[in-house]
Amino acid sequence: MQIIKNISELRAIIKNWRKDGLSVGLVPTMGYLHEGHKSLIDRAVKENDRVVVSDFVNPTQFGPNEDFESYPRDINADAALCESAGADIIFNPEAEEMYDDALTTVNMTDITEGLCGKTRPTHFSGVCTVVSKLFNIVTPDRAYFGQKDAQQLCVIRKMVKDLNFDIEIIGCPIVREGDGLAKSSRNTYLNPEERKAALCLSRALQLGKSKISDGEENADKIVKIISEEIQKEPLAKIDYVEAVNYNNLKPLSKIEKPLLCAIAVYIGKTRLIDNFIIE
Ligand code: PAJ
Repeated sequence: MQIIKNISELRAIIKNWRKDGLSVGLVPTMGYLHEGHKSLIDRAVKENDRVVVSDFVNPTQFGPNEDFESYPRDINADAALCESAGADIIFNPEAEEMYDDALTTVNMTDITEGLCGKTRPTHFSGVCTVVSKLFNIVTPDRAYFGQKDAQQLCVIRKMVKDLNFDIEIIGCPIVREGDGLAKSSRNTYLNPEERKAALCLSRALQLGKSKISDGEENADKIVKIISEEIQKEPLAKIDYVEAVNYNNLKPLSKIEKPLLCAIAVYIGKTRLIDNFIIE
């Protein structure tokens, strides 16, 4: 496995793979890899002849008061995980390599404006721009994204359709800790007390899901049940709790498939997201 920092070097390798008729999978990440990322890499290794994992903390998707500087980084641990999972390349560019006086961005309206877009108004433009660049650099056959970031997955699918990228987007299920907390690089910010408090996210979603299984059809009631469960936790502050149509991310009044029930909650200063999808 190679660590490549340079776009032209990566392109030359991929050109040779293509000459040999090999298929290519891409797993875009911001590094500090965990079992959630590994599940995407494992699937990519199974389904493609060659796999590129991008490992780039993308500055343009962080807002001015967000955690770009403090976002955890450990390229050596990431390389070990990618090597053991059977990836072929980690693409780990510097910001200057990716953004050399760039004036072009990829912006999407509508589905980027609700949910996480409300508190993070520039986030999805940063995501769409960097993912477009990665798609153009790697030209993968398939790219792998987690349902952990359900809105992101929805936005990427729409971007691929709108801009005619010839790439199959594969969504992969959420990987959780044994106690239910969705794995996230940001979980490292939590102190032991906050780590316990963070369980309110998965617990509240489980409760909401079970009420739906019991026959509750009123989306507002489900949102209320989930919100009240989170509010029992003193360290938690809700950013949003929403039940939306998973195709267009519009709020639902009646529980209908495909449903995305998504939440963002601050535990202390750390903003965590989680969701469930009923398709
Ligand atoms: P990052 O947060 O590093 O996540 C990389 C990919 O791993 C995303 O597709 C995310 O949904 C997936 N992932 C993270 N935690 C997961 C979990 N617990 N279970 C399953 N999948 C999980 O998302 C980004 O980076 C960036 O926005 C990126 C797409 C790389 C663009 O910069």
